[in-house]
Amino acid sequence: MRIGILNSGGDCPGLNAVIYGVVGAANKLGWEVVGFRDGFEGLLPPGDYTILDPDKISEILKLGGTILGTTNKGHFAAKVGEGNVMQVPEEIIEKAKTTLKLLEIRALVIVGGDGSLTTGMQLMKAGIPVVGVPKTIDNDLAATAMTFGFDSAVSTVVDALDRLHTTADSHKRVMVVEVMGRNAGWIALWGGMAGGAHVILIPEIPFTFEPIKKAIEAREAKGLHSTMVVVAEGAKLPDSGLVTKEKSTSSEHRLGGVGEAVAAKIAEMTGKETRSCTLGHLQRGGSPTSLDRMLGTRFGVKAVKLIEDGKFGHMVSYQSYHVDSVPIEEAVEKPRLVEPDSEVVQTARAVGICFGDR
Ligand code: F6P
Repeated sequence: MRIGILNSGGDCPGLNAVIYGVVGAANKLGWEVVGFRDGFEGLLPPGDYTILDPDKISEILKLGGTILGTTNKGHFAAKVGEGNVMQVPEEIIEKAKTTLKLLEIRALVIVGGDGSLTTGMQLMKAGIPVVGVPKTIDNDLAATAMTFGFDSAVSTVVDALDRLHTTADSHKRVMVVEVMGRNAGWIALWGGMAGGAHVILIPEIPFTFEPIKKAIEAREAKGLHSTMVVVAEGAKLPDSGLVTKEKSTSSEHRLGGVGEAVAAKIAEMTGKETRSCTLGHLQRGGSPTSLDRMLGTRFGVKAVKLIEDGKFGHMVSYQSYHVDSVPIEEAVEKPRLVEPDSEVVQTARAVGICFGDR
């Protein structure tokens, strides 16, 4: 028996741990694993793949990125922007089927975010047995309490805040740190809280500048002359909304630049020297944390179990410290966003963090 695996969408720490888990568990069952290169593109005839030898993948657990390569564009895009679902052309799906048939692959493990899993559902409907593994640093997939990659991204943010805090202190500055997360504020919220930010701005809580000014001035009055502000790339400016770079080829807007805009306005309103720092792809690179290594390995092993049990069209999910599964359709229905009244947000408010809304 042969199964296939591919990563699709943006990379994130922990992808190799999933490959490690899948290959290890499949090997125990006597199955061979074919790894497709560069996401779904590897399925196009004649197929771009490698046979994953269990003895050769034992060292990949700790590696960032993915040994298979990935892409967030190409022939199989099924989701662009917020909620825009497109149909992958039939002839492309047929080509993928031909490759899988020729290689005698009985099931495909798709490791991806909502876009890739939406593509996965379309392949499934066309007769390809798939199982999904949720991946994204953004942590914005419904039906799983956590995606792997998120914890590593948060730990990079915390490390950066620790460093930026000392220089902000030395210069008595406001430091604005822009973090990733697309339209969800998870990285900003968790990274900001764990990194001791004083102000956190996220897409789910509309903000204005007056409360931020007050928070900075209140700190000044107490003799605290530096302030750390974390802003999610998807946070909307009060007057002009989302800040984007040029439109990408897939017609999805690339987010970025809100940190600079927030810093300029804070400087203007408070008269304080203010700097901004965008963490960008640092959050996607590097070795996975121990949590992401564990999640990745457990998700990979569970994906093989789903195939063994014939639970196609299901995605591995993480709930209450337990790895289980849900129908992929449920997982991609809508994004998982930060609830403005959730316990974590209330906790942040309780320790004096300002969200710019009051
Ligand atoms: O979805 C993961 C993510 O890192 C987002 O947080 C970010 O907006 C986007 O991907 C960046 O994509 P790219 O690597 O194409 O610039």
